[in-house]
Amino acid sequence: MKLPPSPKTHPFAQLLQWIATPLDYLEGTQKVYGDCFTARFGKLPPLVMVSNPQGIQQMMTADSKQFDSGRGNQIFRPLVGDNSMLLLDGDRHQRDRQLLTPPFHGERMRTYGNLICDISDKVMSKRMIGEPFFVRAAMQEISLLAILNAVFGVNQGERFEKLKELLTSMLDSVSSPVSSSVLFFNSLQQDFGAWSPWGRFLRQQKQIDQLIYAELEERRSHPDSSRSDILTLLMSARDEQGQPMTDQELRDELLTLLIAGHETTASALTWALYWIHSSPEVHQKLLTEISSLSDPSDPTVLAKLPYLNAVCQETLRIYPVAMLTLPRIVKSPINIMGYEFEPETTIMGCIYLTHQREDIYPEAKLFKPERFLEKQFSPYQYLPFGGSNRRCIGMAFALFEMKLALATVVSRYQLSLTDKHQPKPVRRGVTLSPSSSFKMVLNSQL
Ligand code: HEM
Repeated sequence: MKLPPSPKTHPFAQLLQWIATPLDYLEGTQKVYGDCFTARFGKLPPLVMVSNPQGIQQMMTADSKQFDSGRGNQIFRPLVGDNSMLLLDGDRHQRDRQLLTPPFHGERMRTYGNLICDISDKVMSKRMIGEPFFVRAAMQEISLLAILNAVFGVNQGERFEKLKELLTSMLDSVSSPVSSSVLFFNSLQQDFGAWSPWGRFLRQQKQIDQLIYAELEERRSHPDSSRSDILTLLMSARDEQGQPMTDQELRDELLTLLIAGHETTASALTWALYWIHSSPEVHQKLLTEISSLSDPSDPTVLAKLPYLNAVCQETLRIYPVAMLTLPRIVKSPINIMGYEFEPETTIMGCIYLTHQREDIYPEAKLFKPERFLEKQFSPYQYLPFGGSNRRCIGMAFALFEMKLALATVVSRYQLSLTDKHQPKPVRRGVTLSPSSSFKMVLNSQL
């Protein structure tokens, strides 16, 4: 079978470049081989990367039974376990998606509106006037509190505090561009005791598991029918045989939501704050739009503001947090971009390269929210949340949270950049993030 062209560099060298400087790898390869190429990363099967909207459309509109995905997501396994929706395929995947999609949409989602505004305010009010602070850490606190609340329906208590602390340090331990390597090389996943990086990761994970299992135990011994949080929903779900989810299944899906549900949004919020404060014009337009509201604290109204929406969309275009979609593993022969792909070929949509196309986004390197006011892009030209049966289940929630957190921070706090330079986009685990050393300063509270 003929695959699209591939760099001649040794697969191990390609993998190292993909880990250390992912955007250079993608842009450099596309420059030479075009918008459909084959990446070879170490011992992994070849990965066909598509950044042509027509190719993406062919991928996303094919019958979903044509592809598997979960079994190609082993990289997530140490973080979320075998029963995570991310690693599932077929009926079980569909069952968990159907169960977990509704709470992150519509009326259920809107009940979190005031809470997200309050959390954003509380986190920002802890910053000291005149003292630079690490923006990503602050945004991560906001997004973690928001998702913990949605999942557990509580926002205080010793267990909650402990979980918050452990999740942050466990993720930090596999997040720097160097420590991320451990996720790509199974051979580095060795427990050499509590002081070794993987040993520490495992011990933190064990503590997280103990907290989750204690919560499950407590809820079973003290059932409360008035609760409407996501864990309650998961615990009351029954399959066709009337069986509930096992503790292991509950734990894996909870961790999936907690991790996927805050790492990504934290990076997106950090970028947004940078872009807003790097352009006085964007900042002013946003403030004017928010202050034109008769009740600027109403979350439902804030979420509908067109310019605020355009700022969020452009933030997710220019540096999409997920550079790639999840893999699509071909199950029966399929033609994409003129290539006849045979079963077991792995294809991925390259979100970053698609969003950087000059034919769709002129001056693609510039931050221009107006693009999203002037034009509508197709779901194959603009896909920060992927598509088809693997599209992000947290899309509506993430956008809602981004808008409310940004509106709260921008309208109540006067911030400025400490440095004119753009923060570096760096690998963070499997995602792309602004560097965690990026700082801003709080000038005054409005
Ligand atoms: C700005 C924030 C976010 C971005 C950019 C993002 C992006 C993505 C992308 C690109 C995918 C893969 C889609 C595909 O392959 O077609 C995905 C999947 C997923 N996302 Fe998100 N996400 C975000 C926030 C969230 C939140 C808040 C949650 C949880 C509430 C979440 C939960 C998930 C889950 C569970 C999947 C796997 C879906 C499946 O396997 O069927 N994400 N996300």
